[in-house]
Amino acid sequence: MFRGVFVARSKIKVGVIGVGNCFSGLYQGLEYYRHHNVDRAAGLMHPVLGGYKLSDIEFVSAFDVAENKVGSHLHKATFASPNAVNWVKNMPKSNVVVQESPILDGIGTFVHGLVKPVKNKSMDVLTRDIRRHIEETQTRILLCYLPVGSQKACEYWAKMALDTGCGMVNCLPVFIASNPLWAQRFKQAGLPIAGDDIKAQVGSTIVHRTLAKLVDDRGALIDGTYQLNVGGNTDFLNMKEHGRLSSKKISKTESVQSNLRKPLDADRIHIGPSDYVPFLGNKKLGFMRIEGRMWADIPFNVELRLEVDDKANSGGVSVDALRCVQIALDRGASGYLEGPSAYFMKHPPVQYADPVARQMVEDFIAGKNQPK
Ligand SMILES: NC(=O)c1ccc[n+]([C@@H]2O[C@H](COP(=O)([O-])OP(=O)(O)OC[C@H]3O[C@@H](n4cnc5c(N)ncnc54)[C@H](O)[C@@H]3O)[C@@H](O)[C@H]2O)c1
Repeated sequence: MFRGVFVARSKIKVGVIGVGNCFSGLYQGLEYYRHHNVDRAAGLMHPVLGGYKLSDIEFVSAFDVAENKVGSHLHKATFASPNAVNWVKNMPKSNVVVQESPILDGIGTFVHGLVKPVKNKSMDVLTRDIRRHIEETQTRILLCYLPVGSQKACEYWAKMALDTGCGMVNCLPVFIASNPLWAQRFKQAGLPIAGDDIKAQVGSTIVHRTLAKLVDDRGALIDGTYQLNVGGNTDFLNMKEHGRLSSKKISKTESVQSNLRKPLDADRIHIGPSDYVPFLGNKKLGFMRIEGRMWADIPFNVELRLEVDDKANSGGVSVDALRCVQIALDRGASGYLEGPSAYFMKHPPVQYADPVARQMVEDFIAGKNQPK
């Protein structure tokens, strides 16, 4: 068991896969906090985590497929279309140049008009160059922000993490940490992973599962519930392609179901991204309804509308997931990180109620529990 004093040994050297809107929110948010008193600033679960401050997180490599991002410096690529996060006007110059990534299944049908992918290199050359770049930049954690439905691309990057000795934070709903085969590979390689599908800070999933649990804990019966989400960014445009959505729906539905004493029948729960409304941009609207019965079978219902900036929503969680993976690397801990995955992700290897998961994170940070 880890019993040391928290002394941050190094910077957290991160490589990002997918320089899209979520990354831009994270990257520009980090810059925002550089100019604000972190202890007082809103939006953080841990100003310092395991000895690491936000300013210890450094992006040292970046990978994408978009013609207008590959070859561009990171401080410019963050604003490249169709990205729509513009919170910090003057980002400091970054020396990081976005590298070409294999396209595989990254670009969906609906997004094709907005993202023009480059394909300059053969797969062998690309893989060799990516490996070399990760080594040269001393990247230690790969942060995966690929589009929904990028099964092959996400697996490519999970293998790349294993081959280059990187830990991984998997923010998309492709099951890596929660797939026992992949989790075992990370364990055997001595590398940590937190995943899968990042659970937004105040997003539809955490609100819906908390509300459903409240109703359930109070002894009421849920007869049916839905969660419909609309937004206007490329993530929502991409999710119009229903064939790419199967794991997203599983991830979001299980996240609510797992919080109930008895899961609802499949036809009593409907959760999913529901439409793309272009003028909403990064504004996301979530509509939730729970129908149920309480004392003496008397019916009730709850309706809730959530309005959030979709891209502010993942950054505050990613910074904690990244720092947990870094302290696992520092301690030589490997495999899936049970508490951090449960608290920060919608589809972790093992689901726990959020207060339990939160305590598990605190225990993990304090060195009281290590990955299995
Ligand atoms: N907003 C949230 O809070 C939240 C929550 C859960 C999950 N997510 C997930 O995070 C992921 C990223 O979301 P986003 O809004 O940044 O999407 P986005 O569409 O803005 O960005 C995706 C980026 O990936 C790039 N890309 C596409 N194929 C690639 C490939 N093969 N290799 C490398 N790069 C590739 C695109 O060019 C683009 O820059 C999505 O899967 C989304 O569902 C976000």
